[in-house]
Amino acid sequence: VAWEARQSITSIRQFERPDLLRLFDRADDIRDRPSAYADAATPYVLATLFYEPSTRTRLSFEAAMMRLGGKVISTENARAMSSAVKGESLADTIRIVSGYADVIALRHHEEGAAALAAAVASVPVLNAGDGPGEHPSQALLDAYLIYRRRGSLDGLTLTFVGDLAYGRTVHSLALLLTHFHDVTVRVVAPESLGLPTALAAELARRGVTVMPFSRLEDACRHADVLYVTRIQTERLPADLDPDAARYTVDPGVLAALPAHAIIMHPLPRVAELPPTVDADPRAAYFEQARGGLFVRMALLLRALGLD
Ligand code: NCD
Repeated sequence: VAWEARQSITSIRQFERPDLLRLFDRADDIRDRPSAYADAATPYVLATLFYEPSTRTRLSFEAAMMRLGGKVISTENARAMSSAVKGESLADTIRIVSGYADVIALRHHEEGAAALAAAVASVPVLNAGDGPGEHPSQALLDAYLIYRRRGSLDGLTLTFVGDLAYGRTVHSLALLLTHFHDVTVRVVAPESLGLPTALAAELARRGVTVMPFSRLEDACRHADVLYVTRIQTERLPADLDPDAARYTVDPGVLAALPAHAIIMHPLPRVAELPPTVDADPRAAYFEQARGGLFVRMALLLRALGLD
């Protein structure tokens, strides 16, 4: 199933290889010729409805809409400040917001919330993170950076480290990589925070080589991308020690990582990626976040039926 114009995005599974390449080309053009898009979405309104904390995702969706000439309405703390507090269901909220806005970016703490919202909305709903489920727009901006830097995602060796169980960006990016040839995904995670077994099996079935490592240094040798993630402390079961075997990008890791590799992180970063790494020429996470603006502009254009 290809991602068609005016459709919701609930999962990265909706994207086929041509959809991805088309989106990256559009993002490139927006980056190169921003003034050509400055009035593209002038009459339209984006609603950002966020039930979980966010800096990048919400502000970049909002900036993206404004840089297309559109307008934004926003509930940045919907769990506390929307009618959810009065007991309104997500479905009712979405029905109402559908009447005010032309597109909705939704972040919610429950897996499947975006799919539920898309089913009742009369406008496209863009999943901006559904609990431990998925984060498709993040995967798209992650892939966009790799595509820009390497020119292709075929033949990629990418090392995921951190919380691969509850980190939704990893889930979406790993699924996206199934559309490319000869991809190897190396996984390094504390015990009980590994890649969900169903996801690992699906990746293998769809042609991605999945290789677990226990030492991060070993997993970095000959890798093209080191993708670091934060332990999702807000989602961990109570009996799980968040400090157990926390992995850090330390000098040994940097020494093992090839010179051509890039270091990525969806951000926010905490202890796993010390600020001292920022001076390393392989650090790419700020450029990664910046590219999210152009990718989200491209997504909004197509969601609004303008591309
Ligand atoms: C991520 C998220 O919300 O899943 N942040 C983001 O959108 N860039 C990663 C995280 O919170 O660790």
